[in-house]
Amino acid sequence: MLIRDEGPADIPAIGRVVTEAMKMLAQATGTEAAIVTRLRADDALTLSLVAEEEGAVIGHLAASMARVGSQDGWGLIGPLAVLPSWHGQGIGSALMAEALRRLRTTCRGAALVGDPGYYHRFGFRAFPGLHVPGCPPEVVLALPFDGTEPHGELIHHPAFGLDQPE
Ligand SMILES: CC(C)(COP(=O)(O)OP(=O)(O)OC[C@H]1O[C@@H](n2cnc3c(N)ncnc32)[C@H](O)[C@@H]1OP(=O)(O)O)[C@@H](O)C(=O)NCCC(=O)NCCS
Repeated sequence: MLIRDEGPADIPAIGRVVTEAMKMLAQATGTEAAIVTRLRADDALTLSLVAEEEGAVIGHLAASMARVGSQDGWGLIGPLAVLPSWHGQGIGSALMAEALRRLRTTCRGAALVGDPGYYHRFGFRAFPGLHVPGCPPEVVLALPFDGTEPHGELIHHPAFGLDQPE
């Protein structure tokens, strides 16, 4: 299995992987693939990593820049998606390890909204005051690289507004 940056030829497969994986997630909105497309169109995909096996894209991780309160420099991870038939084989962990390795060089920390049961293993945790309106605080997670305590609203790129009802 190879973790690498997306290339132009991967774009349709990334959409399929994200769509298929998110069908497994009860709280998914069905807009996750469109969010990746919008981030790409806005030149806001800080990272777009694919997991490749025998020439096929089987996993994907997107990262974009975010603010916490008035503080910029946070790398927002998501969506993270692995094709269901490949779950439990370390692919999500490999994508995350590479994303954190890269974000460490450019960001003050990483943040995401997700299941703490999965993301604790990478060092993500909730912080008092770190929040996203409408999300339970226990799913708003951060991993500071430099000891900064994130405090305030985790503000995503506007592409994530595709989650909001019109
Ligand atoms: C979450 C996801 C990316 C993990 O990918 P993966 O390649 O299966 O992950 P890994 O193989 O690295 O890790 C698997 C482990 O995580 C656990 N795990 C997966 N999702 C979990 C969750 N929501 N809560 C707790 N543990 C979870 C598995 O039980 C497994 O545990 P084990 O190592 O003790 O066997 C994948 O399940 C997925 O695409 N799910 C649907 C989309 C999604 O939930 N994305 C994340 C939110 S945006």
